[in-house]
This record gives sequence, structure tokens and C-alpha cells, in this order.
Amino acid sequence: MKLLAIETSCDETALAILTMRGTATAPHFSVLSHHVASQISLHEQYGGVFPAMAKREHAKNIVPLLEKTLSDANLLFPFSLKKQREGFSHTTILKVEKLLVREKEMFEQLIPYLRTYKKPDVDAIAVTVGPGLEPALWVGINLARVLSYLWDIPIVPVNHMEGHILSFLVSTNKDIQELSYEKFDVPFFQFPILSLLVSGGHTEIVLVKKWGAYTVLGSNVDDAVGEAFDKVARMLGLSYPGGPKISALAEEVRKKMLKNKLEIRSFLPRPMLYSGDFKFSYSGLKTAVLYYIRDLTNQNKRSLTPDEKKSIAFEFENAAIEVLVSKTLRAIKKYNIRVLVVGGGVAANSHLRKELTDQVSAFDASIQVHFPIPELSTDNAIMIGIAGGLHFLRTKKGVKYSSKKLLANGNMSL
Ligand code: KG4
Ligand code: ZN
Repeated sequence: MKLLAIETSCDETALAILTMRGTATAPHFSVLSHHVASQISLHEQYGGVFPAMAKREHAKNIVPLLEKTLSDANLLFPFSLKKQREGFSHTTILKVEKLLVREKEMFEQLIPYLRTYKKPDVDAIAVTVGPGLEPALWVGINLARVLSYLWDIPIVPVNHMEGHILSFLVSTNKDIQELSYEKFDVPFFQFPILSLLVSGGHTEIVLVKKWGAYTVLGSNVDDAVGEAFDKVARMLGLSYPGGPKISALAEEVRKKMLKNKLEIRSFLPRPMLYSGDFKFSYSGLKTAVLYYIRDLTNQNKRSLTPDEKKSIAFEFENAAIEVLVSKTLRAIKKYNIRVLVVGGGVAANSHLRKELTDQVSAFDASIQVHFPIPELSTDNAIMIGIAGGLHFLRTKKGVKYSSKKLLANGNMSL
């Protein structure tokens, strides 16, 4: 069967088409096409993501992206000109208008699209319903509802974080552009699996008893790790999203220190390192960086030098990652874990990748550690398609476009 996957929870509008075969215990996927339209250049100017602005961008970009994604999957076929001229019944248009009452711009674009193109060979729609920014989530949900109504196919509501857990399954060494037609089996794993989720909104350690059955062992009590990366980046004058920029500066220092065999000194706290649980707190670390910068610059009377910025990025990254690695290792030991998977934007961080791999391997080299390819660490629709697909294989059904389960839930938990 073929699945259309839709993701609009934050600042990426993402769509994908996947085919899925097999059973819930031995599924096989292939990616026919996928696209991510990033809003980063817009949000960069404001230093963060504003929900109303993100929603407007999703609504503006999603219909052209749908056309492109279906076309790349060879699923876009126009009606005959006669049929195009006939269009839809008044009742159908009124229904679509009602479903898109809050997305006028999307409605204006969707009607000409739907008049032009036939129903594609797609059997179900997987869509993110939470967690995330509610106005942004609604754009994806409402598109899914309209398509489900017109094409008469079910919808599978997906938790964004489950998508991040599963994103490692697309194991490829290829460049993301070549990902189309990537095929992958979901292999047999020894459960429980441990998942470390590190994104802009979440820092969580999750016990996966089987696909679809999750227990959150601990999560962030304040700022998430990605959020702390972004906020510290702002203090250093780096633009949103700051994670990759901090990481690049920190790597420069790390290489130099290794080369010159310099000892690493640390002046920043490691919050909750010894709390004995799996909770995380990154707001104190962020504030410690703020005070450090104030002292260094004599109450902001001067600006930071490029070397000072690099050294702060390095110190911050070391502190942030040390806590993640230490708590993950403790959970591995406590729950006798054989397979660790990492997901979320911060999973792209090279220091985290190296430290986690090295330290887990030093503890027990037979434990598997899986990361998503860096391009699929951040938000994308392939992971939503995999999560939706696994649900569908398990339950053999989705929900109707009018279902009460299709509500955006900003704080949805696993
Ligand atoms: O998962 P994601 O794309 O969106 C959410 O669901 O939140 O994660 C985005 C977060 C941002 O905070 C970004 O700064 C961070 O991931 N990030 C990184 C790196 N790449 C992205 N943080 C550290 N190092 C990176 N290389
Ligand atoms: Zn995410």
C-alpha cells in the first residue's frame, strides 16, 4: 500500500510518499519521494519560531509541495480537460471550504489543484497531530482531512516524537537527494529498546517495549537541549537554529585541543547529572552561560572576541552532551538494554554521536547504537510515514476525516 505522510509541527513543511509491505512484525518500506520546505530563513530574522507566522508559511507552501511530492513519485495525473472544466459540485466545494475555514490561503490553492489532478494511487494519509505548535499542526491536519474526504481514504494520526524514535530505520549512506526509492526492512530487534530523544522541544529517555508501546523514563523539566543550543547561540550572536553553528565552533576548539594535547577545563555546571533519575534541566546551564558572558565582558561593556565565542560554544556543548550521555548510559545499565536509538534534531550533533558511541561501546561493545542519517535527524515526513505505517500494519485501520482523534495537541505525550 502507499502512504502520504504530512508533517507541519514546527518550522518545516514536509511531505513524503512511502510504500509499505509485509506485516507488523516484519514490515518493508520504500520511499518514493520526500520534500522538506524549511522556514528557517524567515524565522532566522526573528531569532525563533512564532506560531502564527509558521502556520501562514505552511498554508502558503504545502499545496505546491504536495504537487511536487506526488509528481516525483509518479503519482500526479491530470483529469481530462472536459472533466477539469466541469469541476466539483457546489456541495463538495462548500464542504472543503468548511474544513479549511481557518486556512483560506490553502483553500484558494487547493481548489484549482483538486480540479486539475485525479485522486492518486495512495491508500492512507499519516499526519502529525502533536506535540508541536498547534496553529502549525492544524495546517497539516486540515489538509489531511480534505484529502481524506475527497479521496475517500483513512487517516493515521501520528505522534511527532514517535516519528523521531523511528527515523533511524532509514539506514542509508546516500545523500538525501538520492533517498528516493530507498528501500528498507525493519529488522528484528531485541526489545526493550532505549530511545534518547533530543529535539528543540524535548529531551527524553524512552523505554520502547515494542513498536507503539512507549514509557517515558524521564524528560526535560524546563528548556529542552535543542532549545538551550538555540538560546546560547543567540547570546553568541549566531542565528537560528543555533545547534549546528555552536557545534561547528565547538569542533574547531576540540580539534585544536586534541592536536595540542591541551587539558579540557570546565567552568559550566552539568545540571541534574547526579539527580539519580532520568530528568533533564537545561535552563540553569543556559543562565550560567549568560552570567559567564556578563562577567567576561564587564557587564556587556564590550563584545565577545571570536576566540571567546568559540571557547563558550565548546564548553557549553561539552556540558550539555555530558549529561545526555551519562543519563543514557545509566538507563542502559538499569534496563539491561541491547539496542539504543537516538532521534531528534540534536541527534545530528557530531560530539553527541561520538561520545555516545564511544562510551556505550566502552561499557559493552555488543550493544547496538543507531542514529538517523543527519538529514533525517531534524523534522521530516519520512519518519511520520514510518510511524503511521507501523500503526496501520498493527491495527489495519485509520480514522475518518471527521474523527475526534484528529485534533492538534501541542503537548501530546508518547
Ligand atoms: O527535531 P527538530 O528538527 O525539531 C523539533 O522537533 O524540535 O530539532 C531542532 C533542534 C534545534 O534546536 C536545533 O538547534 C537542533 O535541533 N540541532 C542541533 C544540531 N542540528 C540541529 N543541535 C546541536 N547540534 C547540531 N548539529
Ligand atoms: Zn522534531
